[in-house]
This record gives sequence, C-alpha cells and structure tokens, in this order.
Amino acid sequence: MIDLLLAFDDERALAEPLSAALDVPLHRIERHRFPDGESRLRLPARLPARVALLRGLHRPNEKLAELMIVAPAARELGVDRLTLVCPYLAYMRQDMAFQPGEAVSQRHVGQALAGWFDRVITVDPHLHRVSSMDQVVPGRRGVALSAATLLGAWAARHAQRPILLGPDEEAAPWVRSAAQAQGLEHGTCIKQRSGDREVCVALPQLSFEGREVVLIDDVASTGRTLAVTATALLQRGATAVDVAVTHALFVDDAVALLAAAGVRHVWSSDSVPHASNVVSLVPMLAAALRG
Ligand code: R5P
Repeated sequence: MIDLLLAFDDERALAEPLSAALDVPLHRIERHRFPDGESRLRLPARLPARVALLRGLHRPNEKLAELMIVAPAARELGVDRLTLVCPYLAYMRQDMAFQPGEAVSQRHVGQALAGWFDRVITVDPHLHRVSSMDQVVPGRRGVALSAATLLGAWAARHAQRPILLGPDEEAAPWVRSAAQAQGLEHGTCIKQRSGDREVCVALPQLSFEGREVVLIDDVASTGRTLAVTATALLQRGATAVDVAVTHALFVDDAVALLAAAGVRHVWSSDSVPHASNVVSLVPMLAAALRG
C-alpha cells in the first residue's frame, strides 16, 4: 500500500480516480518551465514513507529528465519506498543493437529507473527479448500488468463474434490471453519492417470471409502496422476491422490513416490520454499498488 500519490498536472485524468480508488491523498508536482527549457519542480515540503509517482512516458525525453530530479528530491523529503506507476513505459522496443554501436535503450533506461525507484509498475511493456520487468529494472521490483483481457472483453461486447488478430508474432501472448478469456478465435500475422513507416504484413491462414476482425496490439505509433493489416483483411473478405491497443500513441496522421484504410473503430486503454480511450486501467493499477 502507499500513503500518498504524486502526479504532474497533465496526469490528472488518471491520477484523480487512482487516488480515489486507493483512498490516499493526491499531491501535484508544480512545474515551472524556464525560458531556456529547464524545469523547476516543486513537491510537498514533507512526504510520507511510501509514495507512488504516476508518470506515463509517452513523449519520454523531457519526462525522463524530470524523473531524474523528482526521485532523489522525494527521498530527501522523507520517502523511504518510492514506486513509479508508469502506464506506458517508453524505450522498451529498442532491446538489442540492430546495428553495431546502437545503444540498447531498454537496458539503459531500465537501469536508470532502477537507480531512482524501488518498484516500477507498468502495463503491457514491450518485452520481447527479456522475459520479465524484474530484468528491466535489475535489483528492484518490476511489475508488468496487462490490458489484453480488458480489451478482449471490450472487443467481444462491441464486435460481432470477432476474430482477434495480432499484427505480429510479438503480439501473440496478448492476443491469446484476450481471445481465450472470451472463447474467441485468434491468430497472428508475420510482420516485416523496413523503416519507421514502412511495414509489410502477411495474414495467417484463417478464413476472414464475412467475419469481423479486431486487431489487438500493445502499442500503435504511426498506425502503419494496423493500417496495412486492416487493408489486407478487408481484401480477404473481412466485413469490418476494428483496432484495440493498450497504448494509443497515434502520432501525426495515424488515426486518419486508419480511417482511410477502412478501420471502423479505434479503441484503447487510458494508459495514454487519447480520444480512443474506452478501457480504464485504474482498478488494475490500484490493485497493484495495494500489493
Ligand atoms: C512493435 O512490435 C509494436 O508491437 C507495434 O506493432 C508497433 O510499435 C506499431 O508501430 P506503428 O504504429 O508505427 O506501425
């Protein structure tokens, strides 16, 4: 359990219901941006022993710099056990050196978080080549929750006996758990990426003719992965394609691109604030913080 929740102003949509669910006070971190881009951060003058800081890491770079300041400041102000609640944990996809000399960002960001926090709670982190969040934050407690069954339940209620489909093999565990909980058919595609916005997808040997399909993935960024998969599904006779993702990054024209590809509905959890948010992570985060 925690004694107090800390959050930046732009996290209010999740922070307020989370503090209410836990019945603990919520304190805002005041931030002043200096003209040169630096931040001045102000926390409560005294803090209790067990504090959680809510900070999602979409658009992560500036937020990481602020965590580097907030975490030691919180300890100076009295915190003994500091938890980071990070619904979207950035930099998890860069988990190996794809070119010689390339930094393995997952490892270095994880090590930095392990230096600042005692426990990191996140949702559907992109763990492909490591098996657990404990490995991401070495020597600390890492907790990986999943929105897959919530998204699967939503899909089952809002689409007609859908096939749940993951756009790549990495999505297989999420799709399987979402589908099995609802007794739905499921499968995964094979994806090849040749650039930030260049993606090819091969559909599995399932019959999509006359079926509604819901694409399930952990994260949508440019939306290319989902758009090319939706196009292929409609060409194979699917009657409707919806998408359900945990982390709705949807950069630039991503949502328009999905609409142009024929996607009917875009659904997401509220890990990243977005118009597509339909599934609340609050009960799941509150339960993890009570543990
Ligand atoms: C990668 O493997 C992830 O699971 C997503 O499929 C990917 O990040 C989506 O990226 P984009 O929306 O830019 O295609």
